[in-house]
Amino acid sequence: MPFVPVLSARAMRFDLITLFPEMFAAVRDQGVSGRAHARGIWSLVTWNPRDFTTDVHRTVDDRPYGGGPGMVMLAEPLSQAVEAARAARLQAGADTPEAPAPVVLLSPAGRTHDQAGARRWADGTGAILICGRYEGIDQRFIDRCVDEEVSLGDFVLSGGELGAMVLMDSVVRLLPGVLHDAESAVQDSFNPALDGLLDSPHYTRPEVWRGDPVPEPLLSGHHARIAAWRREQSLALTAARRPELIERARAAGRLDGSDERVLEQAGRDSKPGGKG
Ligand SMILES: C[S@@+](CC[C@H](N)C(=O)[O-])C[C@H]1O[C@@H](n2cnc3c(N)ncnc32)[C@H](O)[C@@H]1O
Repeated sequence: MPFVPVLSARAMRFDLITLFPEMFAAVRDQGVSGRAHARGIWSLVTWNPRDFTTDVHRTVDDRPYGGGPGMVMLAEPLSQAVEAARAARLQAGADTPEAPAPVVLLSPAGRTHDQAGARRWADGTGAILICGRYEGIDQRFIDRCVDEEVSLGDFVLSGGELGAMVLMDSVVRLLPGVLHDAESAVQDSFNPALDGLLDSPHYTRPEVWRGDPVPEPLLSGHHARIAAWRREQSLALTAARRPELIERARAAGRLDGSDERVLEQAGRDSKPGGKG
């Protein structure tokens, strides 16, 4: 694809504090986020805490006080890496002194990342993301330098790098000009255009695959019927898999009478003796 620079006053920039900078080639060079990076819509800079050590072994961790398994990341190299990232962001005009980017730690103890969070991030200028390793990070660094903690969910990763990549990918795809079809991000699950519901199923050619036909409304060419079918599917799927999203949409006044009838029918169908 030819290089098409995107002119924007303040493009999104992520600074990654990581012991494994090579891992970020995946999000920087591949797919949707890679194309957007090549077009200058966002940028990614890595900072290795090892480059901020003074000993011959370039030590970034040590044994935990109080004993116990594993190692703990030292506060000083991390802190110096954050300071260097901050200075570089200011110099590049990514931030202003009045509005510095937040310092965010990927952590199982953080607030769980979700689509609403991705939308908030997409309105900002990026962040300095700290990728933990080993048993964790000296708490004094977290207390002094970290503004917020973000979790990917209730499981433990070996390091924050994959979490940071997931976060960045979910944000970058929402930036203006990133997706070919401007509509496709808003039509995704959890988005306001879908009232926060799950997306409906998708089909492509052939019309019949191993005996299974494409649902008839999708072949009708009738836009209103197709939209109604998709809404029904979206409601039924969300009610079955994520009923709390239905409650949220209802509480926000996003469901009308016809939605409620679809949900009643879906509830009847899912009972013993019902259709599914
Ligand atoms: C092996 S984990 C440390 C887990 C820590 N001892 C605990 O039990 O909470 C190493 C690093 O991976 C990252 N990490 C692990 N699980 C994560 C999650 N669910 N979300 C975001 N980051 C996570 C954090 O940066 C963490 O410091």
